Amino acid sequence: MKPPHGGKLVYRVDEKKDIDGISVIEINEDVAKDIENIAYGIFSPLEGFMCKSDFENVLEHMRLENDVAWTIPIVFDIENKIREGEEVLLKAKSGTTAIFEVEEVYKYDKKEYAEKVFKTTDIAHPGVKRVMEMKDKLAGGKITLVKEGKEKFEKYYLKPYETRILFKEKGWKDIVAFQTRNVPHIGHEYVQKTALTFADGIFINPIIGKKKKGDFKDEVILRSYEALIENYYLKNRAVMSILRTTMRYAGPKEAIFHAIIRKNFGCTHFIVGRDHAGVGNYYGPYEAHDIFNEFPDLGITPLFFRSFFFCKKCGGVVNEKICPHGKEHHIYYSGTAIRKMIMNGETPPETMMRKEVANIIMSYENPFID
Ligand code: ADX
Repeated sequence: MKPPHGGKLVYRVDEKKDIDGISVIEINEDVAKDIENIAYGIFSPLEGFMCKSDFENVLEHMRLENDVAWTIPIVFDIENKIREGEEVLLKAKSGTTAIFEVEEVYKYDKKEYAEKVFKTTDIAHPGVKRVMEMKDKLAGGKITLVKEGKEKFEKYYLKPYETRILFKEKGWKDIVAFQTRNVPHIGHEYVQKTALTFADGIFINPIIGKKKKGDFKDEVILRSYEALIENYYLKNRAVMSILRTTMRYAGPKEAIFHAIIRKNFGCTHFIVGRDHAGVGNYYGPYEAHDIFNEFPDLGITPLFFRSFFFCKKCGGVVNEKICPHGKEHHIYYSGTAIRKMIMNGETPPETMMRKEVANIIMSYENPFID
């Protein structure tokens, strides 16, 4: 199996650590999730929140200070309560508890952060909005997880040390990872199955966590994928597990970040389709393909796909590389169109979505995030 990013799988968990007398700082669930992602090596080689040199290198060069590829800042924004050199206990409502060794407290420029990561400072971009709402200072340093938080979807929460064992037990060598924030339409299924044709197994890894208004609720995504896998996948060819992190909507840069995470889970290949992790019109439809040229040392192979759609003349699912017919014969799997249909109480047709998936979605009074 391929090594994790940076060479070794980070594991910073110590449930027996003495935490008596350490001053407590309350954290929100986004920070708590990042802590667990660091502790369990999902963000290997990070061992904590980024200090200034890593943060600046990531913005400027898309690399950590030690030259390992990295595109998205993993930072902890703080108020004045935290000081350099001290040790604090970070605690979230969900129970996540970690020791934080504060190495550095530093100021940063939010506009520069937004411009470099999202290529825009437009506040209408959900990632930019979140950055602009952050506190004014960042704190960097190592973390050690003392207690894991409660997880609603526990049975789907696999850690890299678990997926790596699972893939080995299944005898999978070529493992293709699929990132998603959506319920599956037929286009998603085709992209997965086309990739799976050349691999041993597929790792379906939906993001569970903060998203934007109008995206599907976590539970709806998981239940609809359960229905898809149950009815249309071979049991020994697909594994589903959740990724607990915030969607940043950073398009190309997030595609690299998504690939690194899946490399840490033990995957060898990563699917990148049209407008990966995009939002609105901030990124070109295939910009997330091009950025991989800048990372020949990534250590996971991207699989690039043109958009799949249904062609009435072909009578099947195709893309622009294999269908000679004009646009008038095509039905596109637009997330926006599907959302509109559902909001109007119309069940998406079987050319767009499996009936088992559509039935699950339609069983919710409101399947969307308010
Ligand atoms: S994303 O924000 O996680 O990228 P989504 O869950 O819709 O959004 O897509 C997951 C992956 O499937 C992305 O790589 C995306 O580019 C790809 N994808 C989405 N729709 C299609 C399609 N019709 N054909 C091919 N790939 C697609």
